[in-house]
Amino acid sequence: MEQDKIRNFCIIAHIDHGKSTLADRFLELTKTVESRQMKEQYLDRMDLERERGITIKLQPVRMKYHYKGDEYELNLIDTPGHVDFGYEVSRSLAAVEGAILLVDATQGIQAQTLANLYQAEKIGLKIIPVINKIDLPNADIENTIKELSELLKINNREILQVSAKTGENVEAIPIKAIQSIPEPGGELKKPLRALIFDSNYDSYRGVVAYVRVVDGEIKKGDRIKFIATKVEDVALEVGFFSPDYKPKESLKAGEIGYIVTGLKEVSQCGVGDTITQVESRKLKVESYNINPLPGYKKPVPMVYAGLYTIDGEVNKLREALGKLKLNDAALSYEPENSKAFGFGYKCGFLGTLHLEIVKERLEREYELNLIITTPQVAYHEKRIGSKIEYEEPWAKVEIICPVKYIGPVMELMNNVRGVYKLTRYIGERVILDYETPLSSVIVNFYDKLKSVSSGYASLNYEIIGYLSGDLVKMDVLVAGEKIDVLSQIVHRNQLKQKAQSIVKKLKELIPRQWFEVSLQAAIGGKILAREDIPALKKDVTGYLYGGDITRKRKLWEKQKEGKKKMKKLGRVDIPTDVFINLMKS
Ligand code: GTP
Repeated sequence: MEQDKIRNFCIIAHIDHGKSTLADRFLELTKTVESRQMKEQYLDRMDLERERGITIKLQPVRMKYHYKGDEYELNLIDTPGHVDFGYEVSRSLAAVEGAILLVDATQGIQAQTLANLYQAEKIGLKIIPVINKIDLPNADIENTIKELSELLKINNREILQVSAKTGENVEAIPIKAIQSIPEPGGELKKPLRALIFDSNYDSYRGVVAYVRVVDGEIKKGDRIKFIATKVEDVALEVGFFSPDYKPKESLKAGEIGYIVTGLKEVSQCGVGDTITQVESRKLKVESYNINPLPGYKKPVPMVYAGLYTIDGEVNKLREALGKLKLNDAALSYEPENSKAFGFGYKCGFLGTLHLEIVKERLEREYELNLIITTPQVAYHEKRIGSKIEYEEPWAKVEIICPVKYIGPVMELMNNVRGVYKLTRYIGERVILDYETPLSSVIVNFYDKLKSVSSGYASLNYEIIGYLSGDLVKMDVLVAGEKIDVLSQIVHRNQLKQKAQSIVKKLKELIPRQWFEVSLQAAIGGKILAREDIPALKKDVTGYLYGGDITRKRKLWEKQKEGKKKMKKLGRVDIPTDVFINLMKS
């Protein structure tokens, strides 16, 4: 395909605004997927994505489209919309020249719409604004157009209106993409430079690099070199995404595709690295110094939690984490030893959704029984003389909400130590800029925000740095024993309330034992709050009158089932989901 017939673009949007559904329509329109094989949200390839109806991983696909007598090659990358997976979006953006900015007409511009748009504008992509879901009766097309035209400083007429569900006007998008997105550029005659924007470990093929060829050409069998890791290798196969792997003779400048490598580890095929040819060394001296393409920022974990196995299968856990990491560069882990739980791993995640997904994949795909501690942000510990001082990560937060919710949202932000920065207006709504401790917004905050704004507010955040604060370490004692996995760093102002709430919650979550169990929150030796779980009575089925044996049996069964998911914490049996429930309640 000639360069001028190639268009590379991605779809960016806030979560649930309809990217994957729009991609489905493109696949049909271009007959990329046969209609009998078509299923909803086709590009969401993982089981978990399909079940939850969310996109977790970016997914490229190549389509053919005929326009004014010419055949065009459209390379589309579908991206996730959830804030946890913003890293996937940033990688996709670097591989394309254009972005379809999709906005749900019933929701208007939301926080991730903005965050993704800023990123796309920063690297100079051509933006195609599209309003989706115009088929819905509550679609507010007029206001959404107003918001978009204000934000992008464009004419109303430039905004396309579609329904990804019914397919109405969807065809206007590829046409607009062909007309307005620049062709890829790059030079075929130059030595190969291919940007790795993703990689995948495939059990049949091994390590597969997802690439955007910037200059030159790569053929099957070529000797290749990864500039950053200096690893040399052979391209065992090259091809494009259909969206399945489709082998091809070569990939040329401007194309998006994949290279099957002979590498054993994904870490040798770093996302953001540049692939070049080994041959180019012999050809020309100057190609010794091929400039690597600008890579990516490393993903920064936002929260950390300890992962332990219930059955002590720590080797199995290590192996599973290693395998999962092959396809999830953002996951980090290091060994950790807890007095309460023994050996496990301290894992870093992009957010609590990422955490839930990793846990679920480990349990499903690797048959592990896991216990995961309550997620916390990473605090820095500084020893000053005999005192320990803590620094905590702060985030820049952007909240979008209708004007009438400014009051409640501001009150909420005050309660979480937010520092107000700025108000901007966008159509009938406002963007509120805050700075706040990351810990305030990372766990549970979204629900609170939704509740004070009747569901209308959305938020985006990013870490801006570390600040010292009046922070102390609060310990929790169960039956008199300090349980390390329950310790938390707390701001002194919130100490009393946090101490009371954790012992109260634990009382609800830990079942009665054969002895009385005390629950205490403390700093050093000072007890801040206490609750007691009374001892179990001898016959738990005793209160079931009449000795109805089926009911007794049911209760015993239930207890047995409960037992399976218990873990000893000191002398006390606790349900293994206690930490996740602590986070949720
Ligand atoms: P993430 O990838 O998780 O961010 O979501 P997404 O942006 O890919 O959204 P998705 O395509 O999964 O659509 C979200 C929901 O909106 C689904 O239930 C779709 O069926 C629905 N939807 C998408 N487009 C339209 C549309 O044009 N009209 C109507 N009525 N519903 C739509």
